Amino acid sequence: MKITTIEWKNNKIKFIDQTKLPQKLEYIYIDKLNDLWQAIKMLKVRGAPALGAAAALGVYLGIKDVKAKDFNAFIRALDKAARYIAGSRPTARNLFWGLERARRVAQKNKDKSLLTLKKLILKEARKIIAEDRLNCRRLAGYGSKLIRDKDTILTICNAGILATIDYGTALGVIYRAKEEGKGIKVFACETRPLLQGSRLSAWELKKRGIDVTVICDNMAASLMQQGKINKVIAGADRIAANGDTANKIGTYSLAVLSKYHNIPFYIAAPASTFDFNVQSGKDIPIEERNSREVSELLFRKRVAPAGVKVFNPAFDVTPHNLISAIITDKGVILQPYRENIKRTLGQVLRKR
Ligand code: MRU
Repeated sequence: MKITTIEWKNNKIKFIDQTKLPQKLEYIYIDKLNDLWQAIKMLKVRGAPALGAAAALGVYLGIKDVKAKDFNAFIRALDKAARYIAGSRPTARNLFWGLERARRVAQKNKDKSLLTLKKLILKEARKIIAEDRLNCRRLAGYGSKLIRDKDTILTICNAGILATIDYGTALGVIYRAKEEGKGIKVFACETRPLLQGSRLSAWELKKRGIDVTVICDNMAASLMQQGKINKVIAGADRIAANGDTANKIGTYSLAVLSKYHNIPFYIAAPASTFDFNVQSGKDIPIEERNSREVSELLFRKRVAPAGVKVFNPAFDVTPHNLISAIITDKGVILQPYRENIKRTLGQVLRKR
């Protein structure tokens, strides 16, 4: 299966509408910034690395028709677009990283013409896309070394093709292990409330010929107790300097369960998900989403009484001491994380 989650095509952002899966594989074309904002908010495009690409392309949408008389006016327009995009979802580091990359290109080329600046920003956004294809495969190469033939792996949410450009992080590790001839079974937590596990991960794993079984989130403990899980691999939305990791709500419970059952718990994420400005997980902003996601089943059927209070945080933070290793595109990082993250990624992050 060869699909691309998000790309620049015919002067528009083309991406898969992930709210339509698994029923329909449908693409959307967008050339207006507010349409992109809505699409991000509604999770039509989602997953940290895909959001990085969307954000940079969004900056281009925001400035492509700007008629600035000088660089200062141009950068003001760019910052306005970037602030707007930044307000869509707060947790994934990659989204902000995508915005920063676009801005940095503009700053570095402030002496160039308006037309050239615009072209360079689009070029940078497309570079992010090209890099993600490579980085996910690199990450998968490192990660697959941790996977044994006949492993049964538990995952949550979707950290696959649909969360990146075309390969995935946590699921990329599984794809690579399969390409190497390892027999892998996967249990996918359905991932309430929006079911990224059953709708998206199960869809792409099945298409790639992986033996996948969907479970409700509250079945994970029992499976572990029965010895049915050898490894857990999850993606990440933001990783603090000490290794604390924000990912889809429910990831923390899997980490606690893994510790209790002595099962390796891995996080897979590219360098662009790390945030050196955040020292620990308690400073990672956690998105709280619309209560209807919980009180209704996919906005279709009410499953909680009208007017009842609902709490809907989209992410939780797994403390670094529960993480067996962090698989990145620069190698596998082990504890102690603060030192080893700096050693492995310091140079990459400083260059930003
Ligand atoms: O709310 P979502 O669907 O954007 O949440 C996504 C996740 O939690 C993923 O695990 C994370 O972004 C990593 S994607 C490679």
